[in-house]
Amino acid sequence: MKQSSLFKRLMHINMLLVLITILIVTGLLIQLFTGFYYNEKKNALLEESRKLNNTFASILMGNIIPGSLAYELKFIDQYLNARIWLLDRRGIVYTVSTSQDRQAVGLKLSLDEVKEVLSGKVVVIRGSFGGMFKTPVLTVGSPVYFGNAIIGAIFMHAPIYEIQAALYRIYIIIAISALAAVVVALILSYISAQKLSKPLVAISKAAKGIAKGNFDIRVAVDSSDEIGELAKSFNMMANELQHLEEMRKGFVANVSHELRSPLTSIIGYLDGIIDGTIPESDRNRYLRVVKSESERLSRLVSDLLNLAELEAGIKLNLRNFDINELIRRVLIKLEGKIDARGLDVEVDFAKDYMYVEADPDRIEQVLINLLDNAIKFSKEAGRIAIKTYQKDGLAYVSVEDNGIGIKEEDLPFIWDRFYKADKSRESKVEGSGLGLSIVKSIIESHGGDINVESRYGEGTKFTFTLKVA
Ligand SMILES: Nc1ncnc2c1ncn2[C@@H]1O[C@H](COP(=O)(O)OP(=O)(O)OP(=O)(O)O)[C@@H](O)[C@H]1O
Ligand SMILES: [Mg+2]
Repeated sequence: MKQSSLFKRLMHINMLLVLITILIVTGLLIQLFTGFYYNEKKNALLEESRKLNNTFASILMGNIIPGSLAYELKFIDQYLNARIWLLDRRGIVYTVSTSQDRQAVGLKLSLDEVKEVLSGKVVVIRGSFGGMFKTPVLTVGSPVYFGNAIIGAIFMHAPIYEIQAALYRIYIIIAISALAAVVVALILSYISAQKLSKPLVAISKAAKGIAKGNFDIRVAVDSSDEIGELAKSFNMMANELQHLEEMRKGFVANVSHELRSPLTSIIGYLDGIIDGTIPESDRNRYLRVVKSESERLSRLVSDLLNLAELEAGIKLNLRNFDINELIRRVLIKLEGKIDARGLDVEVDFAKDYMYVEADPDRIEQVLINLLDNAIKFSKEAGRIAIKTYQKDGLAYVSVEDNGIGIKEEDLPFIWDRFYKADKSRESKVEGSGLGLSIVKSIIESHGGDINVESRYGEGTKFTFTLKVA
């Protein structure tokens, strides 16, 4: 997989966090262990000095013979890993535990620390003990008592490199643990960064695919976190886009078809008239067909323009007007068609006036479309009922017919552009299937609702709502 920059960034952040944490923890551990170890050593030396006070006192009092003295000090030296200097009360080195320090015997030490110890204090120093040692030592000095009197001082020098050597072993353990922690943390952060970035990479790849027009792509992410949510929304968007794309393709195909069929017959008839295949006597009849086809084309084009306008979000020319009055005017307009089919029209207005707030031209379009359908799809001696009433603060208008009705399986689709329930091309009923989609757009742009009830073979009722003025 190509590593995304998000992945790299996550890894960088993780690595930085791990390193900083481990450095801090390691530093603290080293500090802690070092302090602890020096303290332990110091305490051990002091403890020993205290325990051996009487031995040192006897040595200083000359109660122990030199041979066994050397042996005794050497033993303590080895046991504590420290060089021992015993000073008398004037600060002169009386004896030492190892022959390496023999040259110090008899020297009078004038260090401040020596004076402090001889005055009863305990001192702890790190360094060369006033230049007496070439390598640094940890020195613990304490007074030697005989009864309550200070009769000398004991200095124990533990070479620091030996303490350090013990500490190094601990440092190595700490370092190995830190390294192991880094490795484990890196593996874990690699996995988590991978887990986080992989779906995002997949989503971005899918988005690019969709941008190229491949609408079948979906992302397979099923985590329940925000990324899963994103993937779900993405897939929803892809579904929507695919649907839109299918609609667009269908729309283009429908428009082409609807435009081509009248044009083909117009051209065909005109050709026949020009080249004389259609006899002189029939010309008028064919020219009338050409005219009606042209009118159909013109209607279709204005319907399409209307739809496009509505979908682009037209500005409504809102006014307060009496919808009952508008219905009366529309009925007069359609009188010819109604009479031609011998239909009975009933109007039932709950009140004489019903003022609504809407765009009257658009609502007239709605009424014409609904009534046009009611007329077109009526049966012999049909009846059309128009009602207006108010309910729950809304104005209701219904157009009902007892015509052919709509099959239940067609009902959800009648609002789609170009949808006609009767698909047979020879169908006598004219229309392109745009009427109801225009109606729905208009009502919805007014913030109203429209719905349909229909029984196949019995009749249909459309009801829409508008704002009361
Ligand atoms: N009152 C009705 N009775 C029975 N069927 C109807 C009724 N109104 C609509 N339909 C069905 O719904 C379809 C879609 O109606 P719509 O008004 O959108 O298109 P159309 O009337 O066929 O064409 P156009 O309105 O563009 O001239 C119709 O073709 C018809 O099958
Ligand atoms: Mg119609």
